[in-house]
Amino acid sequence: MCGIVGYIGYRDAYPIIIKGLQRLEYRGYDSAGIALLDKELKVYKKAGKVSDLENFVKDVSLKGAVGMGHTRWATHGAPSDRNSHPHSSGDRKLTIIHNGIIENYSVIKEALLAKGHVFKSDTDTEVLVHLVEDIQNETGLDVQEAVRIALNRVIGAYAIVIMSQDDPDLLIAARKGSPLVIGVGKDEYFIASDATPIVEYTKNVIYLNDNEIAYIRREDLLIKNIDNTVQTPYIQKLDLQLEMLEKGGYDHFMLKEIYEQPRSIRDCMRGRIYPDNGIVQLGGIKEYTEKLKNIDRIIIVACGTSWHAGLVGEYLIEEYARVPVEVEYASEFRYRNPIISEKDLVIAISQSGETADTMAAIELAKEKGATIFGICNVVGASIPRTTHAGVYTHAGPEIGVASTKAFTAQVTVLTLMAFYIAQQRGKITQGKMVEYLTQLDEIPQLVEKALKSSGQIKAIAEKFKDSNNCLFLGRGSSFPVALEGALKLKEISYIHAEGYPAAEMKHGPIALIDADMPVVFIATKHSSYEKVVSNIQEVKARGGRVIAIVTEGDTTVRDMAEYVIEIPQTGEAFVPLLATIPLQLLSYYIAVMRGCNVDQPRNLAKSVTVE
Ligand code: F6R
Repeated sequence: MCGIVGYIGYRDAYPIIIKGLQRLEYRGYDSAGIALLDKELKVYKKAGKVSDLENFVKDVSLKGAVGMGHTRWATHGAPSDRNSHPHSSGDRKLTIIHNGIIENYSVIKEALLAKGHVFKSDTDTEVLVHLVEDIQNETGLDVQEAVRIALNRVIGAYAIVIMSQDDPDLLIAARKGSPLVIGVGKDEYFIASDATPIVEYTKNVIYLNDNEIAYIRREDLLIKNIDNTVQTPYIQKLDLQLEMLEKGGYDHFMLKEIYEQPRSIRDCMRGRIYPDNGIVQLGGIKEYTEKLKNIDRIIIVACGTSWHAGLVGEYLIEEYARVPVEVEYASEFRYRNPIISEKDLVIAISQSGETADTMAAIELAKEKGATIFGICNVVGASIPRTTHAGVYTHAGPEIGVASTKAFTAQVTVLTLMAFYIAQQRGKITQGKMVEYLTQLDEIPQLVEKALKSSGQIKAIAEKFKDSNNCLFLGRGSSFPVALEGALKLKEISYIHAEGYPAAEMKHGPIALIDADMPVVFIATKHSSYEKVVSNIQEVKARGGRVIAIVTEGDTTVRDMAEYVIEIPQTGEAFVPLLATIPLQLLSYYIAVMRGCNVDQPRNLAKSVTVE
């Protein structure tokens, strides 16, 4: 939610910042802006995408070796030029970019208005920069101290960067609840919301902690906490390659990420499964092995696609480890008074590791004494730093806003966790573990095979691209796959779509079925197959148009459905990993045919750091 980039050093800041903004555009694309400091501070900003900003500044001089940029996902104030960041104080000597929300901005704004401050935008951010200026005016303090005092007065979440014309060799960056990474070069520093804008310049990074303020000069970095105590920075090496951030010949990041799944699932399992011995090893949660033997219940908290992965996890953990599981929307969980005990394990799932609702759910469960595991993709993000233990998905950077490879990697980790817990609690024989892990080990190859249906799926997409609605139905662990198929279609093609358990159809949704309603069934040959076949008949009888995902070689459903898409034969536990693939491709092709921006669907952002 909003992307931040900053640079101070000896190079021209503009190319670094604009490229960084393109990398961070997945975090929001309502408007973009930059500030550059050469002899004086200059700010350029524009509603729209980073490319609109580039056009806007193409005829101006963009000099300066100090600068910052912002790409916005609107919260307070509509997407417009005036609400774009950076925001400057009255005399324009100070300017700020911000990711997050200043919750008490209206109280502060009122006080500042009474003192004569004039605001040019409707944003909460502008209030913060005026507050800093006001503190400077009243106390005569330098900008560093004024920023620290201002941050002590605001309530909310922020990642900010501030530049001041009065102190041109300085960038001030601070974080509370929103991520910030500092890249450490030789006589230069980079700042960004994540490491992707930094990786091509340096692999040495510092993840700023909550309540820390960094005072960054070309040759010097000082980090203090908000109480003014100096902190010792911990420099880490980035494990990120530049190629991971490029489209690599694909038309869209989403397509690249769909095709990366054989690799990402393999990477996720690497060093964790030993099929010959029937053993799963999860180093990240090893310390909690005893705890796992004694837990009474598992609560999974997540949002969106990650919540769907959690539902698949519920089936797997209950089936194999025989521990009761509840799956909760993090946003709902945090706002009630959930019953949690020390014998509960909470698993928080998040691709970005920054989702505000999931973070808040973790804090709540922690307060109540539960043990918290994380399943995250972004290494070093806030959630993995807050949880007691966890397992990374290692899917690599996911740039398309619609989640694809992160979902299958989350499901893979949950599958591993289900077997790991089953193993620790003695709920599974070694023979069965050998059988299951052997099947799991084959999944990357089978995903590769499933991807080969893309030509056929494209042809199906052509037939259904003008639909207004679509139903996705499945049973058992294919129900969350149906939910995920529906979410993918609606978020990138803007076609209204719903996922249901197939048997629930007759309790209401069946009223929607007519010749204009495509119904996608997940009808693989596993338990409930016959029941799903009956549901297909019910749709057919009402003139609905059936597209079915079936196990290869199935002839029964082929005779009934208008279109079938085959996926390879596998064990029931692993169907979600395969059945998801054609649904991702179907959504992708339909969205492309409808002329939608699949990588940056309207109104969305990849990392939702607001409640
Ligand atoms: C959908 C999608 C979102 C995210 C959700 C949670 O394609 O990507 O629904 O799954 O915003 O995000 P994370 O997993 O980063 O917590």
